[in-house]
Amino acid sequence: MSISARSSEALARRFGTPLYVYDGDALLARYERFRKAFAARETLLCYAFKANPLAALARLLARAGAGCDVVSGGELARALAAGFAPERVVFSGVGKTDDELRAGLRAGLLAFNVESAEELARLARTAARLKRRAPFAVRVNPDIRAGGHAHIVTGLAETKFGVEAAEALALYRRAARSPWLRAAGLQCHLGSQILSPAPYRRALARATALLGAIAAPLGHLDLGGGMGIGYDGGPGLSPEALARALLPGLRGLPQRLVLEPGRWLVGPVGALLTRVVARKTTSRRRFVVVDAGMNDLLRPALYGARHRVVAVRPRRGAISAADIVGPVCETADFLARGVRLGPAQRGDVLAVLDAGAYGSSMGSQYNSRPRPAEVVVRGGRARLARRRETMGDLVRHEL
Ligand SMILES: Cc1ncc(COP(=O)(O)O)c(C=O)c1O
Repeated sequence: MSISARSSEALARRFGTPLYVYDGDALLARYERFRKAFAARETLLCYAFKANPLAALARLLARAGAGCDVVSGGELARALAAGFAPERVVFSGVGKTDDELRAGLRAGLLAFNVESAEELARLARTAARLKRRAPFAVRVNPDIRAGGHAHIVTGLAETKFGVEAAEALALYRRAARSPWLRAAGLQCHLGSQILSPAPYRRALARATALLGAIAAPLGHLDLGGGMGIGYDGGPGLSPEALARALLPGLRGLPQRLVLEPGRWLVGPVGALLTRVVARKTTSRRRFVVVDAGMNDLLRPALYGARHRVVAVRPRRGAISAADIVGPVCETADFLARGVRLGPAQRGDVLAVLDAGAYGSSMGSQYNSRPRPAEVVVRGGRARLARRRETMGDLVRHEL
């Protein structure tokens, strides 16, 4: 994220705080870098929409040629409105409703990533009623441990995701008997915030073994998302390293490769700007109370995630450990604990870094707090991409 301190302060003044700010040029540069790393073989990057569904960002990626991974009817509608070509969209999720299956069938997606035998049967019935053949990929659970916090590990047999390899094989066999199902691919997703290519290599080996046993000629192999970023300022998982780990194992496979990165693309290009509201020091801790809370950025409370927090205009003076906490009435309401921070005064702007993924998209109105405005900067120009919610928005749907 290359937005300067001066412009951050100007943005905070112009649009108010808390404020999500994204660098649109950096997002496109990251997409291009990822794409180039895999240029040696046909690869479709399906942006994991859940990381950040903001239309202004989604449109940039759609125009750049990205595909998209959606997990709800709402995400599907937003992805199509943002311009993602339906034949580049995959639909994941363990609990797709009939309405969502119908919406996906009508749109004409690349594949439904199917997560159970029941879902596959329901997809066939829905497809028959609509008289539209349903392309599907079985999501196989590879039983590989990878990823950050336990809540974002999805590729273990204990999680609700995917089906075991033996069942996946049986599903492809069963699907071959239905005129309404078309086996389009095979999918596998390990988890999130994965910093090493090793688990992907292992997942590829398992997926290739499975591909060899599936009779249907599958068009793609989808290895999911989960590529991690350096929340501590480190480089994260480099797409070049991932490509080096995967491309040799893919040689000879006819399938197109699909990947579903979310966090890696959008995480580092966003920051949450927040102002200091109050300070207090107890015998145990130094607290800096800011105007953004866990409703705006849930990751620290939900996953124990650690974001760097910096003063946009650092003041001279002693640096000490501070807990950056919000105004929400929960002890879990912190943005960062024990960060090294110089003197901070009321009104100072702090930037919570790497907040572009699973920040705004996980936001809520908890404590009746309107959601923040969001701004996208391109070529040095800032544009409001989502207005700040009003008090009226809080009660809009109440009767
Ligand atoms: C099926 C699927 N694909 C892709 C992703 C994106 O993960 P990440 O943002 O870590 O790349 C997720 C995240 O939960 C997912 O569940």
